[in-house]
Amino acid sequence: MKVTTSKRLDGIGEYYFSQKLREIDELNKQGKNIINLGIGSPDLPPHPDVVKVLAEEAAKPNTHAYQNYKGSPVLRKAIAGWYEKWYEVSLDPDTEILPLIGSKEGIMHICMTYLDEGDQALIPNPGYPTYSSAVKLAGGTAVPYELKEENGWAPDFDALEKTDLSKVKLLWVNYPHMPTGQAPTKALFEKIIAFGKKHNILVCHDNPYSFILNKKPESLLCMDGAKDIVIELNSLSKSQNMAGWRVGMLCAAKERIDEIIRFKSNMDSGMFLPVQLAAATALSLGQEWYDHINSIYAERREKVFELLSLLKCGFSKTQVGMFVWAKIPSTYKDGYALSDEVLYNSNVFITPGGIFGSAGDQYIRVSLCGSVERFEEAKTRIISN
Ligand SMILES: Cc1ncc(COP(=O)(O)O)c(C=O)c1O
Repeated sequence: MKVTTSKRLDGIGEYYFSQKLREIDELNKQGKNIINLGIGSPDLPPHPDVVKVLAEEAAKPNTHAYQNYKGSPVLRKAIAGWYEKWYEVSLDPDTEILPLIGSKEGIMHICMTYLDEGDQALIPNPGYPTYSSAVKLAGGTAVPYELKEENGWAPDFDALEKTDLSKVKLLWVNYPHMPTGQAPTKALFEKIIAFGKKHNILVCHDNPYSFILNKKPESLLCMDGAKDIVIELNSLSKSQNMAGWRVGMLCAAKERIDEIIRFKSNMDSGMFLPVQLAAATALSLGQEWYDHINSIYAERREKVFELLSLLKCGFSKTQVGMFVWAKIPSTYKDGYALSDEVLYNSNVFITPGGIFGSAGDQYIRVSLCGSVERFEEAKTRIISN
């Protein structure tokens, strides 16, 4: 039998990390014991109360049925409370919130809801690779916009204004930005909203890192008139150490939520109720929780700065989020060359910045999801090679 894949998969490769993890597995089978500083999957557990709610609710006989497509009202109310408390954004829990099975699926839902063949979406370069794959899978065209260190990793709106924007329907933005760790400013948020309004472009803000090593969590929805033009994705993966639970959210005006549900309700059903109830508990955690995780990340980050200094990389100490982004020394052709050298000589894996787009070629990214001891061991391996 001859099987061909759909045209929409043309040009969509296997996700870089799944390929690289296979190679790392192979090296481990050869006894190399690779220290993987690549993937941003929190190694710390969620708060014990969250796990307790999951266990208690799962033990009940009446929590196992299909769930409402719009999610449990308890979770939607908790999301509204979380947005009000930390971002000072008011959301109607009945109409302006859609719980998601992780925010990654929301990227696809948005693209499938709004893009037709020939439509364009602006995506950051460097940026999270899923934006461009989701745009392409939905039949649209991803148009990268370059972010530069000298512009504070902000879009160059003057340059964008000079391009043909007539086919652009979506603008993907993400601050705190992954991979560069750039935090947002109010001035940047104002420019983003003004640009979206001027050109009638829906602004999709992906916001999973606002609580990590960031003084004040910010939402693009806090800006005046934002709901007219903004869809915001958020996630419990990083801020609550719940990456494997798959809980995220989409916040927007009622009209947008209704449009996106038309697609999402045909793809999946509501999450397991005990997961939703435990997620609601996670969202009610206070400042102590965020201080606790951030004190651990801050200590790790110091070690990562030391490791990057050993590699003679340049980096900003004011970056935020769950990674450290660093410029490689000019002795290397690109981040891939440095990453391969460290992998094969020192058995340490560091993500090459080029996987986030061509503008990341001269950079590498180190994840903070590992213990201080692992970073110490990685440093020792690098020093001894
Ligand atoms: C920028 C960005 N957006 C979205 C996601 C996906 O997060 P989630 O676990 O909520 O699907 C990630 C995960 O690494 C990310 O880095």
